[in-house]
Amino acid sequence: MGASTKFTLRTSSLSPRVIWLTGLSGSGKTTLATHLKQVWAEQGVPCYILDGDQVRRGLNQDLGFSPADRKENLRRIGEVSKLFLDAGLYVIAAFISPHEEDRQMVKEMFAPGQFVEVYVQCPLEVCEARDPKGLYNKARKGEIPHFTGVSAPYDIPNKPDIVIDTELLDVETSITRLLQELDNL
Ligand code: ADX
Repeated sequence: MGASTKFTLRTSSLSPRVIWLTGLSGSGKTTLATHLKQVWAEQGVPCYILDGDQVRRGLNQDLGFSPADRKENLRRIGEVSKLFLDAGLYVIAAFISPHEEDRQMVKEMFAPGQFVEVYVQCPLEVCEARDPKGLYNKARKGEIPHFTGVSAPYDIPNKPDIVIDTELLDVETSITRLLQELDNL
């Protein structure tokens, strides 16, 4: 991903931060996380991806998708992210994190500027048409209760630090934009 090379010095000279990707299922959070990690790996920026499916298979396998469980899911992710920051790693956190209140709760765990909220914006219809895991289809048939966007709410972020529109931008452009905006913060 050559387009990002010019951001090497500034991005890697900042102290570790949490890049928090919030958005609907299918909006592109995991794809962006994977590509950002790849760019940073090439630049020698140490980072780690935390993502909903991975964390819910292990650390948070006792949690479901009620509002209380989603809050606890994100609280634990916040705590884990703090440990990674202490260890000197950037964290790329990819979680639906549908409630504004819960995102604020996590943000408040960090020093000002350490938590960067990135809204991965994509209309529900587009996420549903992508349906990479077939989950919207199941949710519409009533097979998955409390599915975000279908039978559970998603609060559009009030004041995200960065917005990436994955309906309009391809992956490479999204990553270039993200790196530019991170450097401008
Ligand atoms: S969050 O709401 O608590 O932030 P998280 O990002 O950890 O959610 O997990 C979302 C992932 O869990 C989705 O990508 C999907 O694969 C899976 N999932 C299973 N049930 C649901 C549901 N009811 N709503 C949303 N995602 C679900």
